Amino acid sequence: MAAFVVLVLVLLWLQLLLWWPPSTTAVSSTVSTAKTGCQENCGSVTVPYPFGLDDNPSCFREGFDLHCNRSSNPPQLLYSNVKVIEISLEGQLHILNYIGYDCYNTSGNFWSFPWLNLSARPYTFSETHNRFTVIGCDSDARITGYNGRNFTSGCSMICDDQQSPINNSCSGIGCCQTSIPKGFKSFELYLYSFNNHTNVLDFNPCAYAFLVNYEWYNFSVSDLGGYMDFYNRNRENVPLVLDWAIEEYSCENVSRSDPSYACRNNSECFNSPNGLGYLCKCSPGYQGNPYLDDGCQDVNECADPATNDCDAPSAICTNTPGNYTCSCPPGMEGDGRKTATGCTALQKKKFPVMQVALGIHHELHTQINIALMRSVPL
Ligand SMILES: *[C@@H]1O[C@H](CO)[C@@H](O)[C@H](O)[C@H]1NC(C)=O
Ligand SMILES: *[C@@H]1O[C@H](CO)[C@@H](O)[C@H](O)[C@H]1NC(C)=O
Ligand SMILES: *[C@@H]1O[C@H](CO)[C@@H](O)[C@H](O)[C@H]1NC(C)=O
Ligand SMILES: *[C@@H]1O[C@H](CO)[C@@H](O)[C@H](O)[C@H]1NC(C)=O
Ligand SMILES: *[C@@H]1O[C@H](CO)[C@@H](O)[C@H](O)[C@H]1NC(C)=O
Ligand SMILES: *[C@@H]1O[C@H](CO)[C@@H](O)[C@H](O)[C@H]1NC(C)=O
Ligand SMILES: *[C@@H]1O[C@H](CO)[C@@H](O)[C@H](O)[C@H]1NC(C)=O
Ligand SMILES: *[C@@H]1O[C@H](CO)[C@@H](O)[C@H](O)[C@H]1NC(C)=O
Ligand SMILES: *[C@@H]1O[C@H](CO)[C@@H](O)[C@H](O)[C@H]1NC(C)=O
Ligand SMILES: *[C@@H]1O[C@H](CO)[C@@H](O)[C@H](O)[C@H]1NC(C)=O
Repeated sequence: MAAFVVLVLVLLWLQLLLWWPPSTTAVSSTVSTAKTGCQENCGSVTVPYPFGLDDNPSCFREGFDLHCNRSSNPPQLLYSNVKVIEISLEGQLHILNYIGYDCYNTSGNFWSFPWLNLSARPYTFSETHNRFTVIGCDSDARITGYNGRNFTSGCSMICDDQQSPINNSCSGIGCCQTSIPKGFKSFELYLYSFNNHTNVLDFNPCAYAFLVNYEWYNFSVSDLGGYMDFYNRNRENVPLVLDWAIEEYSCENVSRSDPSYACRNNSECFNSPNGLGYLCKCSPGYQGNPYLDDGCQDVNECADPATNDCDAPSAICTNTPGNYTCSCPPGMEGDGRKTATGCTALQKKKFPVMQVALGIHHELHTQINIALMRSVPL
């Protein structure tokens, strides 16, 4: 019975993970995204280069090593002691972050204020994907971050009764959210209570604060109730998005001939949106992992009618490196493209003047054809 319950929880958990908006990189499943000879998966998470598992130093770029805890079942991918749930080659790392709490009951006050420091790593907290979120009805919460400069932000809330907060509305009654600044690499959370939850203890014994992927979290009035219920329901964690990049250089000052230049064959450099460094993407007409030698493979546009503009079924599609061409078979003419002239049957002895006439007067058409036949020298 206990095993069954655990299994159900695991399934629910997997479902939660699967719910994630999928990464948009179209990487062919047959081509490995890890370095040759390196393990590509830890549990259900794919580890594409420049990331790699720390058991083999040649499998990752410096700073991009992750640990696979094979003692847990399924194996768990970790950065330091933080769980990694998804890696996107577009520059995001999805992790699970601890929930801060401040709880009250008759025996006193129990709290935990987590912190996270990414300073030694090529990561920052994504300001576009995350929000600092607080749940509580007698609370003052702060987030303090540091990246050369200190910043403190947060919000305060008092609500009178359980009727005031509204489901799905995190706008200051029982739930508040603030955005975070760009480019910072460490934070600490603090929670305070104005009246030790005395006036709200029956419906709100705990306040929670966390930095979270805002697409994931929807406030529910039930999150306010129960002693540690929200914390236990989420198994101590909420998802958080980190941005990653190849640090220190931008596309403008990186040396493309240097062996450490990350963008390999048939790929292009682009600057990280939060100023962290640069990233790579496959050139148009190629797909795969731009950080690996020969990782960007030519797309065969001809294999899929949706990826080419050739006028099927008559036109002939020819794949070329990074592109394709359309042509018409013998006996037909045109550029072979659907959106242009396509392929039409070759009409011998056709004159422009007659073409105009053909479209307009049917009778004239016949006459001209007769005239034409007569005038053809044998
Ligand atoms: C690895 O997983 C085992 C089993 O779940 C756990 O006891 C251990 O603490 C984990 N190690 C790390 C570094 O998280
Ligand atoms: C109060 O909370 C603490 C810590 O969570 C717990 O150990 C204790 O049993 C609780 N006391 C009551 C009366 O609920
Ligand atoms: C974060 O870690 C870096 C290096 O590991 C250290 O220099 C820095 O002081 C730490 N920052 C905070 C706020 O703890
Ligand atoms: C940032 O805050 C920390 C801790 O409060 C403090 O020790 C440090 O001097 C501050 N740094 C700056 C640059 O203000
Ligand atoms: C709010 O959502 C919870 C479940 O998420 C539900 O049980 C509750 O009835 C909802 N409350 C209102 C007022 O809609
Ligand atoms: C809250 O509790 C603390 C310690 O239990 C106490 O020192 C403080 O006076 C209380 N504050 C209020 C407003 O009741
Ligand atoms: C959150 O609630 C809004 C409003 O009801 C809904 O449109 C949205 O899909 C919900 N998001 C999630 C992740 O459940
Ligand atoms: C490259 O340029 C970026 C910003 O444009 C700057 O932050 C970085 O220090 C430069 N790096 C080197 C090594 O010049
Ligand atoms: C990169 O491409 C060029 C020409 O397309 C080729 O000569 C070279 O061998 C390739 N390099 C690698 C590492 O694949
Ligand atoms: C492919 O070739 C066409 C026609 O020459 C050109 O317009 C298009 O930009 C090329 N596409 C790519 C991805 O190079």
